[in-house]
Amino acid sequence: LENGLGRTPQMGWNSWNHFHCKINEEIIREIADAMADNGLAKLGYEYINIDDCWAAYDRDSKGNLAANASTFPSGIPALADYVHGKGLKLGIYGDAGSRTCSKLMPGSLGYKTDAKTFASWGVDYLKYDNCNNQGMSPQPREVDDPGTWAGGVGNSWRTTGDIKDTWASMTAIADKNNKWASYAGPGGWNDPDMLEVGNGGMTAEEYRSHFSIWALVKLPKVKNNIIQQTVHTFKQAPLLIDCDIRSMSKETKEILSNQNVIAVNQDELGVQGHKVQQDGDQEVWAGPLSGGRIAMVLWNRGSTEASITASWSSIGLNASTVADAHDLWTDEVISSVQGELKETVDSHACKTYVVTPK
Ligand code: DGJ
Repeated sequence: LENGLGRTPQMGWNSWNHFHCKINEEIIREIADAMADNGLAKLGYEYINIDDCWAAYDRDSKGNLAANASTFPSGIPALADYVHGKGLKLGIYGDAGSRTCSKLMPGSLGYKTDAKTFASWGVDYLKYDNCNNQGMSPQPREVDDPGTWAGGVGNSWRTTGDIKDTWASMTAIADKNNKWASYAGPGGWNDPDMLEVGNGGMTAEEYRSHFSIWALVKLPKVKNNIIQQTVHTFKQAPLLIDCDIRSMSKETKEILSNQNVIAVNQDELGVQGHKVQQDGDQEVWAGPLSGGRIAMVLWNRGSTEASITASWSSIGLNASTVADAHDLWTDEVISSVQGELKETVDSHACKTYVVTPK
């Protein structure tokens, strides 16, 4: 959507994958505190997004959405003020159907005024779900896939169903999102769902792979007033952390804080990387970066250590090109490589590089 927003993928936090419906204003305030105090905000994570279950079961006497009085007694405007006071932005959740997916709060079907309500509360970002839509199409279109149309109404859109905190789910989602690579770019981003890093269901190597691939496929980032269009059971998910950052481990924080990998995600060129080479469980994912550089991930999805050779022709370089390969996780540089890079990669791990031609 050309509204000046989402020039690079959005970064922040969302409540759903970790807390589901068990949210309240204290948690949101403490998450904002943690984000502001633990260094993540400085790295670009700026949205604190409340997902489903924040509102009262019914609309108020004027037909407006109202915060759930027992879990959000201070109301959303006060929470927006609090989050803004931390230098962060507040996101909220709505649904295009009659009820949200949880069915615990009303949807916005027939209530366009909800958009004004959110704006008047100082909300900066909207994740818009599509449950309980009474069989109505989000918009007349020939296909269900939002990559083909959602760029006209939102700054990002979900391309897959919900992620789960498992290796099988994360890898399947990476593959499903892959085919939409050509639809992404500044102002509009494919969204393969929120990060599970830190929620405990995968190993550190698997989470490093998850973070590397999500960064390469460029989850969206926005400045404010974002619309996050979602379809059917689909929803949003950029470099949106979704663990309890109040108590995350050192290892989780190290993964989420890798500035080299974040820089790939936030690169100004804004071209989505994709799978460029596959040999059984050994894959190479790559995409162009500004300055003629290339981001490249050697990903071993097999159950034993394996050697992976990324050829320059797969990643868009001439075989004769001599380049330096900066390993974004170890911070080491392999200098003057020509034609291909061959590396041994542990099971379920990846090696992630920025390749700079000389
Ligand atoms: C479905 C979405 O895909 C999830 O991310 C989450 O927003 C839930 N709905 C909330 O009910």
